[in-house]
Amino acid sequence: MMRAKTAVDIHELFAQRRSPRSLDETATMSRNDVIGILEAARWAPSANNVQPWRFVVGQRGDDEFVKILSSLVPFNQAWAHRASLLVAVGGESFREDGNANPTFMYDCGLAVAQLTLEAHHRGFVAHQMAGFDAEKAAELFEGQKPIVIVAIGKQAPADQLEGPAFDRENAARERKDLAEIVLRGLPL
Ligand SMILES: Cc1cc2nc3c(=O)[nH]c(=O)nc-3n(C[C@H](O)[C@H](O)[C@H](O)COP(=O)(O)O)c2cc1C
Repeated sequence: MMRAKTAVDIHELFAQRRSPRSLDETATMSRNDVIGILEAARWAPSANNVQPWRFVVGQRGDDEFVKILSSLVPFNQAWAHRASLLVAVGGESFREDGNANPTFMYDCGLAVAQLTLEAHHRGFVAHQMAGFDAEKAAELFEGQKPIVIVAIGKQAPADQLEGPAFDRENAARERKDLAEIVLRGLPL
C-alpha cells in the first residue's frame, strides 16, 4: 500500500491507512477479528468515561448486513455491498442523569478511529460513511443517533469499480499542509 507523504516518520498504521472502495466480495472476517475491532473501539477514551457509542454489526449474508446496507445512499451501496462487515455506529446523546452530552459525537469518533486502525492492523481496510438515510439508519438503533456506518473488508483490485469510484481508488491521498492546520506554534 502507498505510504502518505509525512513531514517526519509516523507509525505505519497512520501512514498507510486509506479508505478504499474496492473490496473482495468473497472475504470473510473471523470471530476473533470482529471481536478485536469492537474491543479496540470499546477501549477508546470518552468524556467522563460515559462511552456513548453503540454498534450494530452485520456480516455479509446476514439480515443485519442487509438492513445496514439498505440505509446507505446508492453511491455507497454500489461498493459497500462487497464488505465483509458493516458496522453502524450510533451515539447516546444524553447522559444517564438526563443532561445532554455535548461530546457524544466526538467520543464516538474516537471509538471509530480505534476500530478503523485495529481493522487495518489486522489486514483489513475500513471505510467510514456518513452517506446514509438518517431515518432508515435510526431504525437500526434503540433511540441512539446514527453517526456513521463503517464498511470493513479485504481490499481488492480497483478494476471492479466504475466511474468516480474507480478514478478515486488509486489516487494519491491528499492533505492540507501542517502550516495550514497548525494556526500557531508549529516548530520551524
Ligand atoms: C465521517 C466520514 C464520512 C465519510 N463518508 C463517506 C461516504 O459516505 N462515502 C464514501 O465513499 N466515503 C466517505 N468517507 C471517506 C472519506 O472521503 C475519506 O476518508 C477521505 O477522502 C480521506 O481519504 P483516506 O481515508 O483514504 O485518507 C467518509 C469519511 C468520514 C471520516
